Parts: sequence; structure tokens; C-alpha cells
Amino acid sequence: MANIFPRWTNLLPFQVVICLGALATGVVAAFWYYATPKAQRVGYQPNQPIPYDHQLHVEQLGLDCRYCHSFVEHSGHANVPTANTCWNCHKAVKTDSPKLEPLRRAVDTNYENYDGQPIKWVRVHKSPDYVYFNHSAHVNRGISCQSCHGDVNKMEVVYQAESHSMGWCLDCHRNPEENLRPLEEVFNMNYDAEKYLAENPIEGVESVKDLGKHLKEVYGVKPKESCSTCHR
Ligand code: HEC
Ligand code: HEC
Ligand code: HEC
Ligand code: HEC
Ligand code: HEC
Repeated sequence: MANIFPRWTNLLPFQVVICLGALATGVVAAFWYYATPKAQRVGYQPNQPIPYDHQLHVEQLGLDCRYCHSFVEHSGHANVPTANTCWNCHKAVKTDSPKLEPLRRAVDTNYENYDGQPIKWVRVHKSPDYVYFNHSAHVNRGISCQSCHGDVNKMEVVYQAESHSMGWCLDCHRNPEENLRPLEEVFNMNYDAEKYLAENPIEGVESVKDLGKHLKEVYGVKPKESCSTCHR
């Protein structure tokens, strides 16, 4: 008996599956990109056990981020400092302030309510467990804390300034040059690219835009976009 359908239709189910699959992926990808609630976590600002003020300690006292977040250059995870880091100063400064009571509880062995338990800071930024993120991979390639956490140096109380959604990560992975800084400026919260260029002229670099492209080249920056980069 002759075939009713021509031979090529044997492939049809396969093609249909591919097309539907591509369509579904496209729709789902578009959904993630546009519908992940960008604003959902922006502005999240939990109360902390001690009203620690970045504006005061960073902007006024001039402390470097790495004085407290000392792992950030060396490890995937940034750390919040131990009570001893605070005690370096506060054993002598404002020791009797009621705001510092939880600190004394944690470190001051002479304090009547001393219990030696770490201060229970409330986590502000948290990616879902299925996301792999790495601080040192960014900080050592010219991406500043400021690009991802905002103007922390002006925050009396830390809040989430950027969405940290997948679309947000990818926006920068596609165009990193807009956020690249010379490595020595990564921790400078008052970085000004124009001023930097005026003080450090580079041959062939005329504008801030050129500077980004230049750094991308000299640092060999090529952020990946494959799924396994961030989901492993
Ligand atoms: C004297 C110590 C100290 C210095 C200096 C410091 N921080 Fe912090 N930082 C803390 C402490 C303590 C917390 C946890 C309490 C809080 O969120 O306010 C924190 C929290 C944070 C968080 C939120 C962490 C989370 O839970 O998601 C970010 C982001 C941050 N700091 C960035 C910076 C940046 C950027 C700098 C430099 C401009 C800096 N910090 C300088 C002590 C410090
Ligand atoms: C380099 C020294 C230094 C370090 C380290 C430091 N502080 Fe301070 N802190 C100060 C100074 C100076 C003041 C301002 C005192 C004043 O207003 O006279 C201050 C003020 C404060 C105040 C306000 C106290 C009040 O009664 O007004 C709090 C709360 C505080 N610090 C918490 C912390 C915490 C928590 C840490 C550790 C994460 C920390 N500090 C680390 C020097 C430091
Ligand atoms: C490329 C974006 C990016 C840069 C640059 C960046 N962070 Fe983060 N940071 C994040 C993300 C995303 C999280 C949440 C990570 C998680 O939950 O695993 C985070 C979390 C943190 C935390 C909470 C502890 C942790 O590791 O989860 C601290 C503290 C922190 N960052 C400080 C800093 C400081 C200080 C700098 C600059 C020296 C910095 N970050 C630079 C994106 C960034
Ligand atoms: C402001 C720009 C920027 C943002 C935002 C950003 N990245 Fe990156 N990312 C980079 C750059 C630049 C590199 C380094 C690429 C290279 O080394 O060539 C990188 C590298 C990485 C790497 C590779 C690390 C390794 O071990 O090789 C991972 C994983 C990563 N990013 C995850 C994320 C995630 C997850 C987010 C969002 C939560 C994010 N990134 C947001 C710029 C960014
Ligand atoms: C640069 C880092 C990065 C890359 C590359 C990346 N993702 Fe994601 N992805 C994220 C982050 C961050 C989140 C968490 C978003 C959130 O919390 O809002 C996420 C969330 C998701 C989710 C959960 C959906 C949702 O909206 O909560 C899925 C599914 C996912 N990604 C699949 C993928 C696939 C498939 C690819 C490859 C095409 C991919 N991701 C590439 C960073 C990345």
C-alpha cells in the first residue's frame, strides 16, 4: 500500500516539538526577563539589632569597606564583621551608649549581661539557593560595590538598592563596560570617571565610554551568559 503521507512528514512531530519548545522557551525567557518583580525587593530595609550607620563610619570616619567586609576580595561570599572588629574602637568610643548594648553583650567580658553570642544582624541581600554568585569574581574585575548595592556610603540604614533579578544580572553581563572601573577605584564610593580621566590621561581614551571599553580590553573581561554560569 502506498504511503498516504509523503516521506518528509515522518519528521513532523519532531519539528513541531522543536518549534513549540523554542516558542515556550522564548515566552518563558521573556516572562523571566520582564516579569520578575524588579521592584519587589528594592527598598527592603530590615531593622538591625544595633543601629549601625554606614554613612557615619564610611563617609565621616573614612573606613574602607574591606576593614569590615574583609572576605569580599578573596571569597565568593562577603562577610559581616565580628563584634571584635567593632570593639577595636568601641571599647574606647561611646562604650556606654545604649545603642551598643548588644555589642557589649557579645564581647565585653566585664559587662554584667555578657553572653558571648554573636550579634544577630539581619541579612538584607539574599539570592535564591539555586543561584551561584561570587563577590571576588566581580570586585577583582573592576565592578564596584556601588554598582550592585548603591550608595552604601550614604545609607544610615542599609537597604536593597538594586533588584538583583536575573534580568538585572544579565544586563550587566551583556554590557559590562558601563560599570567597569580601574581596579584601584572599586572601593571608592566617590569615584568620578570624568575626574579620573582628567587626572590619569590614557592614550586613545577620549571619553568615559572609551574608558569602559579600554578597561574591558586590558582586563580581558568577558562575562558569561550561559545558564550554568549562575545555575550550577
Ligand atoms: C565598621 C564596619 C563596616 C564598614 C567599614 C562597612 N560596613 Fe557594610 N556592614 C557592616 C555591618 C555591621 C553590616 C550588617 C548590618 C547592616 O546591614 O547594617 C553591614 C552590612 C552591609 C551590607 C548589607 C549586607 C546584607 O545583609 O545583605 C552591604 C551591601 C554593605 N554592608 C556594604 C558595605 C560597603 C559597600 C562598604 C564600604 C563603602 C561597607 N559596607 C563598609 C559593617 C561595615
Ligand atoms: C574606626 C573606629 C570604629 C569602628 C571600627 C566602629 N566604630 Fe562605631 N563609631 C565610631 C565613632 C568615632 C563613632 C562616633 C562617636 C560620636 O558620635 O562621638 C561611632 C558611633 C557608633 C554608633 C552610635 C553610638 C551613639 O550612641 O551615637 C554606633 C551604634 C556604632 N558606632 C556602632 C558600630 C558597630 C556595630 C561597629 C562594628 C560593625 C562599629 N561601630 C565600628 C568608631 C568606630
Ligand atoms: C556584581 C554585583 C555585586 C557586587 C559588585 C558586590 N555585591 Fe555584595 N552582594 C551581591 C549579591 C547578589 C548578594 C547576595 C548574595 C547571596 O545571597 O548569595 C550580595 C551580598 C552581600 C553581602 C551579604 C553577605 C553575602 O555574601 O551574601 C555583603 C556584606 C555584601 N554583599 C557586601 C559587598 C561589598 C562590601 C562589596 C564591594 C566590595 C560588594 N558586596 C560588591 C552583589 C554584589
Ligand atoms: C555591574 C555588572 C555586573 C552585574 C550586575 C553582575 N555581574 Fe556577574 N560578572 C560581571 C563581570 C565583569 C564578571 C567577570 C567576567 C570575566 O571575568 O571575564 C562577572 C562574572 C560572573 C560570574 C563568573 C564567576 C566565575 O567564577 O567565573 C558569575 C557566576 C556571575 N558573574 C554571576 C552573577 C550573578 C548571579 C549576578 C546577579 C545576581 C551578576 N553576576 C551580576 C559583571 C556583573
Ligand atoms: C548572570 C547570571 C544568570 C544567568 C547567566 C542565568 N541566570 Fe537564571 N537566574 C539568575 C538569578 C539571579 C535568578 C534569581 C532571580 C530572582 O531572585 O529574582 C535566576 C532565576 C532563574 C529561574 C527562576 C525563575 C524566576 O524568575 O524566579 C530560572 C528557571 C532560571 N533562572 C533559568 C535560567 C536559564 C534557563 C538560564 C540560561 C538561559 C539562566 N537562568 C541564566 C541568574 C542567572
